[in-house]
Amino acid sequence: MKIQGCIPLVTGANRGIGEALVHELLKRGATKVYACARNPALLETLVASDPKRIIPVRLDVTKPEQAEAAAAMAIDVNLLINNAGVTHNGVTLLHDDAITNLREEIEVNLIGILNMFRAFMNVLGHNQGAIANVLSGVAIQHNPMCATYSCSKAAALSMTQGMRTLLRQRNTLVSAVIVGAVDTRMSKDIPSTVVKATPQAVATAIVDGLERGDEDIDADAGSIATRARVGRDPKKAERHNDHRLPPLPPLKPLMRIPDEKKSNSET
Ligand SMILES: NC(=O)c1ccc[n+]([C@@H]2O[C@H](COP(=O)([O-])OP(=O)(O)OC[C@H]3O[C@@H](n4cnc5c(N)ncnc54)[C@H](OP(=O)(O)O)[C@@H]3O)[C@@H](O)[C@H]2O)c1
Repeated sequence: MKIQGCIPLVTGANRGIGEALVHELLKRGATKVYACARNPALLETLVASDPKRIIPVRLDVTKPEQAEAAAAMAIDVNLLINNAGVTHNGVTLLHDDAITNLREEIEVNLIGILNMFRAFMNVLGHNQGAIANVLSGVAIQHNPMCATYSCSKAAALSMTQGMRTLLRQRNTLVSAVIVGAVDTRMSKDIPSTVVKATPQAVATAIVDGLERGDEDIDADAGSIATRARVGRDPKKAERHNDHRLPPLPPLKPLMRIPDEKKSNSET
């Protein structure tokens, strides 16, 4: 797709990759960019950098009514970038908070994308628009140390494929952006031994991929390495992070509830 003259809307634009995307899109000739944030006050510095071309929008992607309101206002959008995301790093499926964490990640990383897709379907149809969903390497290779996040991003990859299938009838580009570790607030707990790409470099790679019309955009060296690993030997790739796992808790003794007691407690 042509970035020169396009009108993108970027979710989670107040920092990190989202903010870098806004700068990159404007640098490459976007007419204007709708920059979204849950708290628009956090967009002040960004908007001040190009007040004529950056339009701040209040948007919590988990709220369908806010997605609908954004679509009713930004009727000239022809590129929707679902970038907003949350993660709980460093926790396995057995962590005490795993289910609460998963619910939050699903709400933002999966249902948030669906809210935006449903709200902007019509606008994008009118404007021959495209969609890019910012996912993660963990969508294609589960990381047991950010296990619930991996599940949410894998589901979002499946949803991206579903959106692409639906919109093929309109020849719409739907890109799945795979990102490795990036130096943003989200990755602050990732050890410094892990090489992190800059948000600027990732934003450039995403926009390059969109210009080429790529359905799958691997936006940094980490994501390229992950895809190669999975392609070479998927079962070996599955074990890639085994060494990072803590030992399982000791087994508890099994205690069968006697049938008599069970039926008493059921009555
Ligand atoms: N950094 C990495 O290593 C990495 C790796 C792979 C993929 N990614 C993906 O890249 C995307 C951008 O992440 P980032 O690294 O730039 O992280 P970040 O600096 O933590 O930014 C996340 C952005 O998402 C916004 N957000 C969170 N929940 C939201 C909601 N309910 N509605 C609207 N906006 C919401 C945040 O807004 P608030 O300020 O209001 O919280 C913030 O603007 C995410 O989808 C992430 O999963 C990042």
